[in-house]
Amino acid sequence: MKEQYNRIKADYEFAQPDEALLLQMKPQLESCVDEFLDGFYNFIWNFGESAEFLKDEEVIARHRSKIRQWYLDLFNGVYDISYFLKLYNIGEVHVKLGLPTHYVNAAFNYVRIFALGCVQKKYHDDSSLADRIKAVEKIIDINLDVLTSSYREEEMGRFLSLTSVEKTLLGFLKKISSYFNYLLAGALVLVAFFSIGLFGYDIYLLFSGQTNIEKGILTTLGSLLILWAAIELIHAEMEHLRGGRFALEAFITLAIAALIRKILIFSLSSEKTTDVLMYGVLVLCLSISSWVIVTKFKPLK
Ligand code: HEM
Repeated sequence: MKEQYNRIKADYEFAQPDEALLLQMKPQLESCVDEFLDGFYNFIWNFGESAEFLKDEEVIARHRSKIRQWYLDLFNGVYDISYFLKLYNIGEVHVKLGLPTHYVNAAFNYVRIFALGCVQKKYHDDSSLADRIKAVEKIIDINLDVLTSSYREEEMGRFLSLTSVEKTLLGFLKKISSYFNYLLAGALVLVAFFSIGLFGYDIYLLFSGQTNIEKGILTTLGSLLILWAAIELIHAEMEHLRGGRFALEAFITLAIAALIRKILIFSLSSEKTTDVLMYGVLVLCLSISSWVIVTKFKPLK
């Protein structure tokens, strides 16, 4: 660990003059700690899911006092092994909580802007301003590096804990699934072409007089809806191929579009009232499922 933390400091060219400058700035930065804390929580509260982690007043109060200490330690002038162990521990606590690494990165953006703003305000006509800014930038980057290293290690750890057979199997499955994904993308393009065909056929029926105008227009609208849903599905699959998550809701949207088309057609016939009702219930169930998937299983990372 000693070697590791010395290497981090060396990589950031963080040396004794930086440590001395940070210590010198401590009184000035300490004087705005409350402003820092208020801004910090206003900032992270906008993340949306912050309340899921900072669950109640007690946790918030505990976190606030820990953040205060962490902020003050930035300007302590002592960056030894115990300082680095503390940072490492903070990272591990966040990983265990399942806090998205994105939140930590975003929170650091606030810390950086605040701290640099404070330094600029207090030292704007000081010839050492540039060096002070560099020192603050370095310590913030080092903190971010160590805090997020726990996330990287957790990912690596999960991979390294697999046996060689499991790793080979994982690699093989990844390859196969990527081939199947391309196959699925091709099939979806085919579906989009079929939807265009269906749309063309509906137009043909409408203009050739084989269907009455009201039914013709509604059927054509239904085909357009299916075409739109198929395009959405292609977009979702493209995102999936780029490494995004599998968008189950796009498939549900396509099913909803197909059912709405049926409802549009059946709504013209008085004998099909029960069918319309059943399709309506199905659309409602699918819409609820889609809502649950989008809101409850939204990816955090
Ligand atoms: C600049 C970024 C952040 C820093 C420096 C930081 C710092 C800390 C520290 C020092 C602890 C205490 C670790 C320990 O127990 O030893 C902690 C815990 C925790 N952090 Fe953060 N944090 C940051 C961002 C966030 C964000 C963005 C959230 C949530 C949206 C969050 C949620 C939590 C929670 C829930 C705990 C556990 C609190 C408890 O139950 O005691 N942190 N954090």
